[in-house]
Amino acid sequence: MNTFQSGLLALLIACGGGAAMAQPAVYDPGKLEFSENCASCHGIDGKGNGPLGELLRKSPPDLTQLAKKNQGVLPVNRLYAVIEGAGIASHGSRDMPVWGREYQLDNAQQMREARGHYDSAGLVRARILVLLEYISRIQAP
Ligand code: HEC
Repeated sequence: MNTFQSGLLALLIACGGGAAMAQPAVYDPGKLEFSENCASCHGIDGKGNGPLGELLRKSPPDLTQLAKKNQGVLPVNRLYAVIEGAGIASHGSRDMPVWGREYQLDNAQQMREARGHYDSAGLVRARILVLLEYISRIQAP
């Protein structure tokens, strides 16, 4: 092995070692969705201490206590309905945004940009389901 080759080998070992030590980037769609759309009110940890919370009439609930308050079972169907906001009048009194509608508008925008076809209602459902999966992971024991 010449000097160049051994230099290259040393470099490869150094890079490989570095990569092995770095944390792999885990794609976590529920966490991303939550930090982008919910953390401003509910807090990054879901405990209800987001910066917008104090501007609201009703303080955002601590989402880590939902299962505990329901005999240890996350009330998924009810939460889905709350997040989606179906049946809530557009000028209703609630402080929580109607995410079904928000996501529908957001998807329509993406659809225009992609000039493609996809199941927009399905995408709304998927976004709400990854959120629920994330919320299930942050439940207090
Ligand atoms: C503008 C502030 C705000 C944002 C943003 C927000 N929420 Fe809320 N959320 C609230 C408030 C306030 C309540 C209490 C009910 C009400 O007044 O609407 C609530 C209630 C809830 C509840 C019902 C808890 C229960 O026990 O019934 C869930 C679940 C929830 N939010 C999840 C979310 C998720 C998921 C997002 C992001 C997609 C989100 N929230 C974004 C303010 C917000």
